[in-house]
Amino acid sequence: MRVLLIGSGGREHALAWRLADSPLCTALYCAPGNPGIEQVAELVPIAVDDLAKIESFVRQQKIELVVIGPEDPLAMGLTDRLQKGGVKVFGPNRAAAQIEADKWFAKEIMRNQSIPTAEARSFTQVEQAEEYVRFRNEPLVIKAAGLAKGKGVTLCYRTEDALEAIDRVMRQQEFGAAGARVVIEELMQGPECSILAFVSGRSIYTMESAQDHKPIDDGDTGPMTGGMGAYSPTPVVTDSITSQIERDILVPTIDGMVREGIDYRGVLYAGLMLTSSGPRVLEFNCRFGDPETQPLMMRFKGDLMRIMLAVVDGTLDQIQIPWDPRPCLSVVATSKGYPGKYPKGLEITGLDEADAMTDVKVFHSGTRRDGKRILTDGGRVLSVTALGDTIASAQKRAYEAMKKIHFDGMHYRHDIGHQAVR
Ligand code: GLY
Repeated sequence: MRVLLIGSGGREHALAWRLADSPLCTALYCAPGNPGIEQVAELVPIAVDDLAKIESFVRQQKIELVVIGPEDPLAMGLTDRLQKGGVKVFGPNRAAAQIEADKWFAKEIMRNQSIPTAEARSFTQVEQAEEYVRFRNEPLVIKAAGLAKGKGVTLCYRTEDALEAIDRVMRQQEFGAAGARVVIEELMQGPECSILAFVSGRSIYTMESAQDHKPIDDGDTGPMTGGMGAYSPTPVVTDSITSQIERDILVPTIDGMVREGIDYRGVLYAGLMLTSSGPRVLEFNCRFGDPETQPLMMRFKGDLMRIMLAVVDGTLDQIQIPWDPRPCLSVVATSKGYPGKYPKGLEITGLDEADAMTDVKVFHSGTRRDGKRILTDGGRVLSVTALGDTIASAQKRAYEAMKKIHFDGMHYRHDIGHQAVR
């Protein structure tokens, strides 16, 4: 089958690497891709939000399966457009993608289905939002309701911080239209985890557990990012917690979508907090996580394309997925200044040396090719991902590999996996 993958991040590099392995995949294209993906797929210079060009490429090249990585084209309705042309698409349609694209929609699904989550209110008027946080006068989470590349969430321990976050989202419009509405939630306590599931209508396959680290600096400090590292599995998610998550969160969420007349086909990502009163939802995403996908795909031992087709065709209940029992850990390297402004075009060295290490894979994100050289081209530049017999050995190997890579201003956290190792 001829496949087009949409996206250019580390997540898409990991997906492309597994898709290219499938005997069912006769040709793999990626729009727009990156130099890492170029090793396994033919790159197509089309931006992820240029839906018309994607559609015409699919038609001209007789693409049979489109796999959509990032949230933006999902929220814009790329799936709906392609399905109208009779193409198989892995990734939810526009209505289903609201679970991520509209945080208030997600809250309403959770409220209607009694799914455990933080108590929340939403506001479109800045003065009312400010009045509410003054009235609450307690630790709160301020979220831009729309899509903000993982950066639209601020944890506020003091009322002044909450007011400042509201100012950035609503008055200064740091996240554009995504901040036209804010969602204000109680701040929950406990270890976090990411649970990703393949979903096809009412069928759910829960993948191995993972955890990411969103703050930019060691000790989980500093501004939120798209993700600075991740590992799988996370020891905090036991078998009984997984069953609880499926019973109390995943199944009722999908049930709530079905009640809304929504047919969900793709990956549902639940960002959860394991509180003293059980797992509670922090957020839902309508796609694979980045960087969670990198360790998950290293541990994944099945035929990714066969599973994606099962999701699309409604035969997911017949699928078993073998996983490597070894833990895997991924560390993200970023450009100096990220998640704020950062330079581009700096030469990256040591990629091949790191990649050549046993059980190590370097996934590209914000990189571009310049002849033989690979240059930085984004905030999150790459993720070094390693398997190990224990999470501590995976961590050690990932950092050994990271030390071989260099670019000016390179930043990475030194404590990815610290809770699991402890
Ligand atoms: N790692 C967080 C996300 O993918 O949104």
